[in-house]
Amino acid sequence: MRNIIISTIVLLFFLTGCSTHQKQYRIGVSQCLDDAWRQKMNNEMERELLLYPDMTLSHRIAYGSNELQCAQIDSFIAEHVDLLIVSPNEAEAVKPAVTRAYRAGIPVIVADRRVPGDEWSAFIGGDNYLVGQLMAEWLLSIQTADDQPVHVLEVAGLPGSTPATLRHQGMMETLSQHDSMQPQIESVMGSWYQEDAYRVVFEYLRTHKHIEVIVAHNDLMAIGAAEAVRDSKGYGKGSVRIMGVDGILPGLQAIVDGTIECSATYPSRGDMIIETAAHILANEPFVRDTILETMLIDAVIANPMLVQYHARLHDLETLHIVQLQSESRWQQVKNGKTIFIVSTVLVGILFLLALGFLLYSQRTLKKEIKREILPQLEEVQEAIQLSHRDVAFGERMKQIVEDHLTDPNLNVEYLGSALGLSRTQIFRRVKTITGKGPLDYIRERRLIRADELLRTTDMTVQQVALKLCFSSPGYFTKCYKEYFGHLPSVR
Ligand code: FRU
Repeated sequence: MRNIIISTIVLLFFLTGCSTHQKQYRIGVSQCLDDAWRQKMNNEMERELLLYPDMTLSHRIAYGSNELQCAQIDSFIAEHVDLLIVSPNEAEAVKPAVTRAYRAGIPVIVADRRVPGDEWSAFIGGDNYLVGQLMAEWLLSIQTADDQPVHVLEVAGLPGSTPATLRHQGMMETLSQHDSMQPQIESVMGSWYQEDAYRVVFEYLRTHKHIEVIVAHNDLMAIGAAEAVRDSKGYGKGSVRIMGVDGILPGLQAIVDGTIECSATYPSRGDMIIETAAHILANEPFVRDTILETMLIDAVIANPMLVQYHARLHDLETLHIVQLQSESRWQQVKNGKTIFIVSTVLVGILFLLALGFLLYSQRTLKKEIKREILPQLEEVQEAIQLSHRDVAFGERMKQIVEDHLTDPNLNVEYLGSALGLSRTQIFRRVKTITGKGPLDYIRERRLIRADELLRTTDMTVQQVALKLCFSSPGYFTKCYKEYFGHLPSVR
């Protein structure tokens, strides 16, 4: 019985134990901005995350503020996230918070924009110097006349961010390596935003009427610049050739529409960032420094790229729907599992209760048997044993009486000594067995034998009375009449 209880408990334990979860990793994502390029990066991360159900992302956006981004990183540190992904707004300003996270033992993946030093776990980002080189090469392809410099306006990103620094550097150094006529470059700062770019370019064009080309550090600023050109006096739509960077949806669309002339790819590879995070969390080897390729996008390839982009977006939407469906399916499965566990536990509890009840009633039954039935049984047994003994005793006693009916010595004392019992004992036992006292019993047996003799022999009443030891024939006759209801002489 104990074994059944133990196995039931073990079974319940096992079943409820099935619901225990594997370790969940929480990853903090600190984004400097939330523009289209970063949304693409976030989408790529979320899509890749489908392969890692043990990881969840928590996004925080600094909206271009170094202070806010540092505070957000510090809050991730305080929350003990398992890993941190940072795309810093401005390198130097955000570096202290990144260092704090790294020194707190949190693995840090720096994405897209670098932070100086090496207190981070991995870096994944585009080749901004190469982007600058592509801008320079495009400018050189425009600079055909040897005597007239092309007038270029550079719309730069936020100065403290590494892409802005490196794109500018890559462009300038590449240009300087050519001894042909150099384009003439002036710069304004658009801080990565379309509206800022519109404002600064519009302002610039009001006083500078000679701009032929604009290189913007990203597509959004290129589009903002194109709008400023369109709205500027003395310029007009399409009057300035414009290049952007990123090659994301708005940029590709702008190239196809003819709003801007070209762009350069600047991959975000959110998928690769998540894959690296998974390797780090699983203590597996990972690539510490990954520089992503870049290439020029002109009107020829923009269209197929746009088609592909839409297809991928459609895939993403499908994936998202599949994810939602599988999540709700999983929820259903989880609910089913919970119902299964709860019902199993309930069945287990009922089983234990029934078992307990059984044990309890068994115990009370045992007690009752002990208290009431057993004594009765013992009595019955005793009675049976007694009656067995009485039967045997009765047989012996009867035999002695029958053998000595004609013996004048047969009396209570004689019977007692023949059976080894005292006078009182013999009286009680004979009374129990025959219902009469020993003397009455002996007399009765003598009368029955006398009757036999009277019926089967020629003996007289007198002879029979004497043979069976009656004190006188008269007394015999009296006893006989009393017993048989008629005189012995009447046959
Ligand atoms: C988006 C963005 C991109 C640019 C990148 C550089 O925030 O400005 O357009 O290529 O950041 O970090």
